[in-house]
Amino acid sequence: MVPDPVIEAVRSAPRPVCAYVYDRTVLRDRAAALAAVLPTGARLLYAVKANSHPEVVRTLAAVVDGLEVASGGELELARSAGTRTIAFSGPAKTDAELAAAVAAGCVVHVESAHELRRLAAVAEPHTTPGSIRVAIRVNRAVAGPPGTHRMTGEPTPFGVDEAELPAALALAARLPAVRVLGFHLHAVSNNLDAAAHAVFVRESVDWSVRTAAAQGLPLSYVNVGGGLGVDYTGGTQFDLGAFGRALPEHPGLVLEPGRYLAAHAGWYAAEILDVKRTHGRWFAVLRGGTHHFRLPAAWRYSHPWTVVPVDEWPYPFARPEVRDAPVDLVGELCTPRDVLARDRHVDRLRAGDIAVLPWAGAYGWDISHRDFLRHPYPQMLVI
Ligand SMILES: Cc1ncc(COP(=O)(O)O)c(C=O)c1O
Repeated sequence: MVPDPVIEAVRSAPRPVCAYVYDRTVLRDRAAALAAVLPTGARLLYAVKANSHPEVVRTLAAVVDGLEVASGGELELARSAGTRTIAFSGPAKTDAELAAAVAAGCVVHVESAHELRRLAAVAEPHTTPGSIRVAIRVNRAVAGPPGTHRMTGEPTPFGVDEAELPAALALAARLPAVRVLGFHLHAVSNNLDAAAHAVFVRESVDWSVRTAAAQGLPLSYVNVGGGLGVDYTGGTQFDLGAFGRALPEHPGLVLEPGRYLAAHAGWYAAEILDVKRTHGRWFAVLRGGTHHFRLPAAWRYSHPWTVVPVDEWPYPFARPEVRDAPVDLVGELCTPRDVLARDRHVDRLRAGDIAVLPWAGAYGWDISHRDFLRHPYPQMLVI
């Protein structure tokens, strides 16, 4: 189902239609729903990497406690959006980014002992003791929760190996400008199992409390990252109520989801330029494709989509159409991999109709190879 305001925006876009539609009300609603189930004192950051459209960032910045960024570019966006807290993550920060993070007063999620030394070296001459707020990102010894893109409990480039954490904390204690607030424990993406995610959060808090006590560290920051899932194929939904009820209370608890806040607020719409059949299979060919919305190709699934019918037809000749058949939704690129969805049954679909894909607001445009073949970019419509 495509909401009416989205259909209106899509229908009023220039032809051939190719657009993202972002709905600010949905962004606010998602943030409010998540904030409502968090325990007292927990802070909610938005992970800008999920969707860095300035209006999306500004809208969420106004309703959450802060923003998580992972590059100098995202930091600039976060600063111009105006927000209380900025957390700076990423396994390969440059000296310039570290300096900018310190200048902006970020909490820096430090990923290695070397990065900790560089952070202090870059910032030291200009900083007062204890003024650089740091959380050490830890690659825990135990496996993380289920989901995709696992980043902890196994060999990954992220964080300090748990076995080396005491040495990293000892190093931090010798760097006067650095003040370690706690830990950053982002573990996974797209976990649909709310109960398992709450267990992960609880276990992360317990571990942080134990570890901080053992190391003599005053603990004011336990960032459990993002990872709350969205089921694009329409089955399970992340059970927010169950998640909230099982969360522990800790004054330092921080969550930084991206997908959960942004995915539902975006639609990708593209006009069907051609409808054809080869070797017995129907194809709807779009003015658009995976260079704008890469997620289904990257994750190898069929994204759901809806036909928005358009009755006007500008040509004096017949309109290609397919009725009551399965159709593959494919893009304009010269590669057989430019496929957004396969085998979706349609009652009727014509060239000139518009395909609309919901849940495209996170890791859609931001992760796509937009310049491949140099087609024009989609319009960005914010409602
Ligand atoms: C450090 C960090 N925090 C937060 C996120 C957001 O994750 P999600 O969009 O799955 O909630 C990511 C995603 O990769 C990340 O790497």
